[in-house]
Amino acid sequence: MTRIVYVNGEYLPDTEAKISIFDRGFLMADAVYEVTSVLDGKLLDYAGHESRLARSLDELGMANPVTKEELLAIHRELVSRNGVGNGLVYLQITRGSAGDRSFVFPDPATTPSGIVLFTQKVDDLDFPPAAKTGIKVIAFDDLRWGRRDIKTVQLLWPSMAKMAAKKAGCDDAFFVQDGMVTEGSASNAYIVKGNRIITRPLSNDILHGITRATLLKYAAEAQFEIEERAFTIAEAQAADEAFVTGASTFVMPVVEVDGAKVGSGTPGPVATRLRELYIEEAKKAAI
Ligand code: PDD
Repeated sequence: MTRIVYVNGEYLPDTEAKISIFDRGFLMADAVYEVTSVLDGKLLDYAGHESRLARSLDELGMANPVTKEELLAIHRELVSRNGVGNGLVYLQITRGSAGDRSFVFPDPATTPSGIVLFTQKVDDLDFPPAAKTGIKVIAFDDLRWGRRDIKTVQLLWPSMAKMAAKKAGCDDAFFVQDGMVTEGSASNAYIVKGNRIITRPLSNDILHGITRATLLKYAAEAQFEIEERAFTIAEAQAADEAFVTGASTFVMPVVEVDGAKVGSGTPGPVATRLRELYIEEAKKAAI
């Protein structure tokens, strides 16, 4: 099915959209991205994604080729033109194409950044079957680069983790570094003990999840205790519950960690409640 996508100033059918083979996103993974979820045609947590994008660009000395107002308008235009009720908007900004390959960054005065956006429809985004059953994760060495706080398109290791999980009959992976869980392959990771939600504190080791920030705010308001510290795989296996968060999964219960059931092996009350809470509140605040 053809979609209308946005490429460097133009709305085009995806079959007609082109970028240069010299684009640094393609050659060097010199690009950052955001994924914003859409429910009932509205953007969730948009302000958070917009400010994290600005931070990622800033950290890499890259310019945003469009203004804030234009960026929001493009998101909305694509949602509308593609008739997206529930789904995702993918956005990528690259350092552009200098018409050749070089390790040296091109001069932004002569090589503007490139920008691409497209939508993905996901009808059951709010009620996927996995939210009822929970997901199973494997432990996987975190061999990614050291600036995971920057949302770059270097996603080969997370893809390899996902493939290893599938091969093991599981759904996803918890990355592990120095014996501690960092995060999921495309999500932040949590465990639950009683009324307490435990998750790794923000640093360069993990992506500063937008769903994480919003959920922790809602959870604190709902009287959950929050402890920001790293945890081990063994601790996750012995926890009452575990879950992950991300724009494409919201709050997803984890029912098995590296071969051991977590709690009863079914989604627990805290993750289930937090999922409902997040969707309910994020929908109210959606734009
Ligand atoms: N990934 N950690 C990693 C490594 C991620 O890739 C993501 C999101 C998150 C959660 O961040 P947020 O809550 O802002 O979505 C944490 C997106 C969804 C993706 O790559 O598709």
